[in-house]
Amino acid sequence: MGPGCTMGPGNILILMALLHSGAAFLKSEAYFNETAELPCQFLNSQNLSLNELVIFWQDQKKLVLYEFYLGKENLNNVDPKYMQRTSFDQNSWTLRLHRAQIKDKGVYQCIIHHKSPTGLVPHHQKDTELSLFANFTEPEIVQMSNVTENSGINLTCSSGQGYPKAMKMYFLLKLENSTELEYEGVMQTSQDNGTELYNVSISSYVPLPDGVSNVTIFCVLKAKSMKSREIEICSKPFCRVPRQPSPIAHQPSWIIAVILIFLILCGMACCLWKRKKKQRIVVSNKETTRMEKDTNEETEERMKIYVPERHDREVQCAV
Ligand SMILES: *[C@@H]1O[C@H](CO)[C@@H](O)[C@H](O)[C@H]1NC(C)=O
Ligand SMILES: *[C@@H]1O[C@H](CO)[C@@H](O)[C@H](O)[C@H]1NC(C)=O
Ligand SMILES: *[C@@H]1O[C@H](CO)[C@@H](O)[C@H](O)[C@H]1NC(C)=O
Ligand SMILES: *[C@@H]1O[C@H](CO)[C@@H](O)[C@H](O)[C@H]1NC(C)=O
Ligand SMILES: *[C@@H]1O[C@H](CO)[C@@H](O)[C@H](O)[C@H]1NC(C)=O
Ligand SMILES: *[C@@H]1O[C@H](CO)[C@@H](O)[C@H](O)[C@H]1NC(C)=O
Ligand SMILES: *[C@@H]1O[C@H](CO)[C@@H](O)[C@H](O)[C@H]1NC(C)=O
Ligand SMILES: *[C@@H]1O[C@H](CO)[C@@H](O)[C@H](O)[C@H]1NC(C)=O
Repeated sequence: MGPGCTMGPGNILILMALLHSGAAFLKSEAYFNETAELPCQFLNSQNLSLNELVIFWQDQKKLVLYEFYLGKENLNNVDPKYMQRTSFDQNSWTLRLHRAQIKDKGVYQCIIHHKSPTGLVPHHQKDTELSLFANFTEPEIVQMSNVTENSGINLTCSSGQGYPKAMKMYFLLKLENSTELEYEGVMQTSQDNGTELYNVSISSYVPLPDGVSNVTIFCVLKAKSMKSREIEICSKPFCRVPRQPSPIAHQPSWIIAVILIFLILCGMACCLWKRKKKQRIVVSNKETTRMEKDTNEETEERMKIYVPERHDREVQCAV
């Protein structure tokens, strides 16, 4: 055993005391704009009636959220910012705070006083730390420019409406052979003044590996979630099949060139042959030249058909 592993009985006691004091502090978590729960954890072992108790919740600044005074709601002491935002569950001794905002995070106290002949005496107290969360939206990939390059593309990915701050954002490339590559960009974070929610984005040049014909790109956002969990939110796949100068793609144009040369040569041969006949039939020569022109136009059209076909190989199938 190394020296770092030894722990005397004194150390254990201190550790237990720390754990104990931590346990007195309840933790509550809520989603932004939803209902937060502030429990009082009052067991009422003496079976006291609500008519002889004063129950109230206050925040860190001692502003009152809610008060139940000797069996009746008392709104006189309630701070305006908490008006009509709370409801008291008498069965569980829990206060519900509706439409929780990010600025509502913090420590709250539930305090119960008992009415005795000598006046109100403190009877019970529970402190709760409220944390807030908001799910980031699904990240979205946008291609920055329509520049077609085999070597790589500039991408931007953005997400928003989240809380707390995102931890990491990156591009994930999945190749055909199930190899995965990560590209991290500089994460830009901005905060909404009103809601205090965060928006994030990254921009990065994503290089595409050589000799790979099918790449699927995802954008992944890593964020903190409830119960100390970390979650990864993935964008929709952004597929890209890089253009490859493959011999198959070149073959048709090469064939066309040969056919074209062949047709021209053929046309010239025809002309020479017709010129011999010229003296006999003059009209037919005009027809031949027109026919020649038609054939040329036809081949040109055929060539045009091939051009978009080659461009089709770089499909951007952002679903
Ligand atoms: C909060 O929720 C209410 C409905 O309960 C909705 O009308 C409002 O737009 C939400 N606010 C925000 C900022 O999401
Ligand atoms: C608690 O008091 C109420 C009346 O105030 C009574 O009806 C009830 O039976 C009592 N419960 C216990 C467990 O003593
Ligand atoms: C947030 O996301 C989690 C799953 O990660 C889901 O269970 C929860 O309902 C979402 N909450 C809100 C308010 O969208
Ligand atoms: C890229 O081209 C598409 C359609 O061809 C167009 O809608 C889009 O705005 C262009 N994007 C940029 C960044 O130029
Ligand atoms: C990506 O962006 C950089 C710098 O902004 C630029 O130099 C480069 O040409 C871009 N590449 C593509 C493929 O858009
Ligand atoms: C997958 O393909 C890439 C690019 O061609 C290569 O670098 C990598 O080694 C390959 N991985 C496997 C497991 O074959
Ligand atoms: C947020 O507040 C800052 C400073 O208070 C201000 O400079 C900025 O313009 C505000 N942004 C918005 C979107 O209101
Ligand atoms: C690219 O790969 C994905 C999954 O690996 C597959 O669904 C898709 O059909 C492929 N696309 C092409 C053009 O090969």
